[in-house]
Amino acid sequence: MAVVTIVGAGVIGLSWARLFGQAGWEVRISDPRPDLKDVVDQHLGGLSVSTSHDLAEAAPGADFVQECGPERIELKEELFGILALNTGSGVVLASSSSSLLPSAIAKGNPVAERILVGHPFNPPELMPLVEVVPGPDTAERTVDRAVEVYRALGKTPIRLKKEVPGFVGNRLQKVFNDQAMYLVQQGVIDVADMDELVRASLGLRWATVGPFESGVLGGGPGGMRHLVEHVGSQMTFDIGTPDPDDLGETLDQVEQAYGTGKEAYERLVKIRDDRTRAILKPLGWPSGPSAGK
Ligand SMILES: NC(=O)c1ccc[n+]([C@@H]2O[C@H](COP(=O)([O-])OP(=O)(O)OC[C@H]3O[C@@H](n4cnc5c(N)ncnc54)[C@H](O)[C@@H]3O)[C@@H](O)[C@H]2O)c1
Repeated sequence: MAVVTIVGAGVIGLSWARLFGQAGWEVRISDPRPDLKDVVDQHLGGLSVSTSHDLAEAAPGADFVQECGPERIELKEELFGILALNTGSGVVLASSSSSLLPSAIAKGNPVAERILVGHPFNPPELMPLVEVVPGPDTAERTVDRAVEVYRALGKTPIRLKKEVPGFVGNRLQKVFNDQAMYLVQQGVIDVADMDELVRASLGLRWATVGPFESGVLGGGPGGMRHLVEHVGSQMTFDIGTPDPDDLGETLDQVEQAYGTGKEAYERLVKIRDDRTRAILKPLGWPSGPSAGK
């Protein structure tokens, strides 16, 4: 049985662990959190999973490592230092980081050629994409192996040609979310209506076609060239940026709309996951974590 070491048992680590476990991997999960065993029992019951508070104990013998610790560069450097000392040659060391450069994570690491970012979208067990981001020192065989493993898990790995902070998905998301925040701050729209507006338009559209293909369709038989010249050329307005010191009122609105705490979180996760599962298959994506077994 192939062995994966998952570093960090938070939102992302637990979801990766379920995906690997359901695809038939033996999972070792490492996290200093005192409730690690309880959390694993609650979320990963029935799978082949062992736990450890010590990464140096969970890493030896791994065939693949997926790091999902906190998004702090000093900590990632430290974790990858431990992984370098405790994993065999040829083992891919992938970070789930949302925006940190693989070159920063691998700085000074003796096995930089084995390090890359394998950035999932939340939750990794359902969202098809994994952005595979090599640093300048990442070996081609490391990228190939990561792509092979993610594909076998039923994911859609997309390999970036070079590293860039935030990669592609989160750069797009940042522009979009900044503008959503700005429009709420400016009193143009409320939080709940913004979410409904996106679900009823861009969310649905982008689940079926990407921005360029959508541009082709928006231009009719004249294609994207016509759209750019005809509609795009008039969109010359300044879009503004949100005030980072004035987030309070918007965050209050978000909490009023969706609630806070464990109960609200679990209710929202269920709604999101049920909806996601319902559309994966009709849209042609593998329909669950056991895909790729
Ligand atoms: N949350 C998201 O939407 C999302 C999406 C994609 C990628 N990511 C990335 O995934 C990673 C994890 O994010 P998350 O949202 O799961 O965070 P989280 O806060 O839910 O979980 C982080 C876990 O790491 C553990 N941890 C702390 N120190 C550790 C150590 N020394 N060794 C091992 N584990 C340690 C914590 O106890 C915690 O359980 C981050 O790099 C983040 O950028 C997050």
